[in-house]
Amino acid sequence: MKKLNVKYVCQFCGYESPGWLGKCPNCEQWNSFLEEISEPRTKKGAPKSNTKTIPLAEVDPQEEPRINTNLNELNRVLGGGIVKGSVILIGGDPGIGKSTLMLQMLDNLNEKISLYITGEESLRQLKLRAERLNIKDDRKILLVSETDLDLLIPIIKEKLPDVVIVDSIQTIYRSSLENLPGSINQIRESTSILTRIAKENNIPVFIVGHITKEGIIAGPKIIEHMVDTVLQFEGEQHHAYRILRCLKNRFGSTNEVGIFEMYENGLREVKNPSEVFLSERIPGTNGSSVVASMEGSRPILVEVQALVTQSKYGMPQRNTTGFDYRRLALLIAVLEKRVGVQISSYDVFVNIAGGLKIDEPAIDLGIATSIMSSLKEIPVEPKTVVIGEVGLAGEIRTVSQPEKRIQEAAKLGFKRIVLPSANKRNITKRSDIELIGVDTVSEAFERILV
Ligand code: TYD
Ligand code: MG
Repeated sequence: MKKLNVKYVCQFCGYESPGWLGKCPNCEQWNSFLEEISEPRTKKGAPKSNTKTIPLAEVDPQEEPRINTNLNELNRVLGGGIVKGSVILIGGDPGIGKSTLMLQMLDNLNEKISLYITGEESLRQLKLRAERLNIKDDRKILLVSETDLDLLIPIIKEKLPDVVIVDSIQTIYRSSLENLPGSINQIRESTSILTRIAKENNIPVFIVGHITKEGIIAGPKIIEHMVDTVLQFEGEQHHAYRILRCLKNRFGSTNEVGIFEMYENGLREVKNPSEVFLSERIPGTNGSSVVASMEGSRPILVEVQALVTQSKYGMPQRNTTGFDYRRLALLIAVLEKRVGVQISSYDVFVNIAGGLKIDEPAIDLGIATSIMSSLKEIPVEPKTVVIGEVGLAGEIRTVSQPEKRIQEAAKLGFKRIVLPSANKRNITKRSDIELIGVDTVSEAFERILV
């Protein structure tokens, strides 16, 4: 009888253990271990070595043309369109709009035949969504409602579509494995097979994966290393904006973002994000400033708000939306120590308007400015943009790509930009926007809050 390999795998992080554990030593989740059985590899099944070597000189450097999605925001995040034969994981909370984005993408592909594998929704549900989205040509989108991978493989091989969507990876399974669909073992195995099919047939495969409530892509996290590109679809539940972020890309730069807005009839691209993110601003209010953040290769102007109020409780509250909580604590410490203001008896709330999440240090000075503006009840001059990283000594450190940020600020009609002195020195003067170089936070406040 063949000996079976039994192991226990954490369903959150993929940590493997020979025995069952109550708490995962890696990710500290409780009750996350499931038994997984894998059959030992037989000698017969080992791959035969008929792979040839090729001299580097003979490799064709010509990049294959990419498939244009006709959605600029999506093209940008993918690095210029879909690379044939690549595997793209698209993760995000349930209900964020992954299936919507996929269907709209297929609709926009010029004369490309696509195969949509739906494991979550029935064909009727998909049809209803398509009607809502006003799908232009529903002949070229082939649907299959099946989750058994062994039945799906022949379909892909027979139809040889231009693009395949697997929605979602958590529903796909192989009957030869003992585990339930959605378990780490099934997800890993299915991805590995889908990757092989993508490469062998030069078909791009989009794998949709849900993130769990805990904020990690439970199963899908495990397959990030197996796929070429990892995209994450984010957004606040109560905001219409959706941000498509690239976390990994073998065929382009990471950190690119695409911005969409969800309407009743689907997602629409946001072509001028700065205008949108500033649209609800009330210029001249205390605790509000405008920063220029680089999201990938693109500068985006965003409003950062702070509210500083006398604390009613013993423990003052610090709260952030869209910004790192620890970074806020650090900025408050710098303000107390280097500027000499007392914030320890105040509650501080910081919000990046529009539901955007920013982790770029260049917005530090904007956050600090908003906090000071709220504390001192002095508004920031409305036509001013603030950029600069704040160091522990209260010094303003240089930011990357200042020209692009300045350009965007000028384009939107801003008249002044407060920036690190060291950045200013390397930039030629402009007639449309005044450049104000600063070295410390105190100096910045003197120039901004007057
Ligand atoms: P969906 O694409 O099903 O999300 P996911 O695949 O990530 O789970 O999107 C579902 C949400 O989007 C749902 O709450 C309804 C909303 N929605 C719209 O607002 N407009 C639309 O045109 C569509 C299709 C969905
Ligand atoms: Mg879906």
